[in-house]
Amino acid sequence: MSRVYNFSAGPAVLPEEVLKEVAEEMMDYQGTGMSVMEMSHRSADFQKIIDEAEQDLRDLMKIPDNYKVLFLQGGASQQFAAIPMNLMKNKVADYIVTGQWAKKAYQEAQKYGKVNKIASSEDKTFSYIPDCSDLSISPDADYVYICENNTIYGTKFKKLPNTKGKTLVADVSSCFLSEPVDVSKYGIIYGGVQKNIGPAGMVISIIREDLITDDVLEGTPTMLKFKTQADAGSLYNTPNCYCIYVCGKVFKWLKKMGGLEEMQRRNIEKAKILYDFLDQSKLFKGTVVPEDRSLMNVPFVTGDKDMDAKFVKEAKEAGLVNLKGHRTVGGMRASIYNAMPKEGVEALVAFMKKFEEENA
Ligand SMILES: Cc1ncc(COP(=O)(O)O)c(C=O)c1O
Repeated sequence: MSRVYNFSAGPAVLPEEVLKEVAEEMMDYQGTGMSVMEMSHRSADFQKIIDEAEQDLRDLMKIPDNYKVLFLQGGASQQFAAIPMNLMKNKVADYIVTGQWAKKAYQEAQKYGKVNKIASSEDKTFSYIPDCSDLSISPDADYVYICENNTIYGTKFKKLPNTKGKTLVADVSSCFLSEPVDVSKYGIIYGGVQKNIGPAGMVISIIREDLITDDVLEGTPTMLKFKTQADAGSLYNTPNCYCIYVCGKVFKWLKKMGGLEEMQRRNIEKAKILYDFLDQSKLFKGTVVPEDRSLMNVPFVTGDKDMDAKFVKEAKEAGLVNLKGHRTVGGMRASIYNAMPKEGVEALVAFMKKFEEENA
């Protein structure tokens, strides 16, 4: 077996322990004589899997009782429509646009109501988080929307915006479970699982109960109505059973590792290794203002496209893969999610040092 260090932004590295466990259970899940892939979503065995997954996630994030946890299909992008459809009672929402994913959500919401861009960092290629302490929040806004960690640009809100009492909705796809979070500050906190949690094909949406109602926009598909999914315990139709199972394994792994406080400690330690190197490097440089740097996605450049391409190619040959930056920004990006071991980041920095010496 030969494993690489995979710096992909998503789908991304998963804990080896979890991969081994699911491999062992592939042919016979705990004496059932079948794989979870082959199991009815209405079976008692699967109900136990989904119930445990939800409870473990609740424990990890300390999710208050007045929030529902939904395991949904359609990825994070489906929520870009589902959120306005379910929340736009006044048909008004305020969006803070700090990257491509926030922009996509902002554009999608425009189909359903009046959507205000109340702040943006597009003027400097999304390399920072705007000051959100005193924005002009619309008096009739149904919610304020952010993308908390910007996967492509490598920025993160270190402080949540002052929504002046309005419901906060956050896409946390690329920082899910990377640190402790106070769920009570959000109306909805949601993310695709394919970055920090599990295989692709699912979004977890944690929604405060008062936002789950029958009062949705006319024409909202049954499947996109939060109440449909909440009333059915995410089993209105056949869910992504296998993904729920693997996510459940990752939740157990996270608990065993010491929970989100320990993840945060490790993530700070790992990111520091890379940022410290970037800050003194003569060849490589980080692209984000230091105070807004993400712990999960670290973009960097040499300033020379050919040199960037050479780096990505040689890194791959050295077993450090998926370091190419997003196609819209170029350069490099190392995604160092929970499952990336410290050794992976150390190996990357050692390789960057060597590359710098050779290409000085
Ligand atoms: C922050 C963020 N939001 C949304 C998405 C889209 O997720 P999905 O592919 O699950 O729709 C991504 C990445 O793929 C992302 O990084």
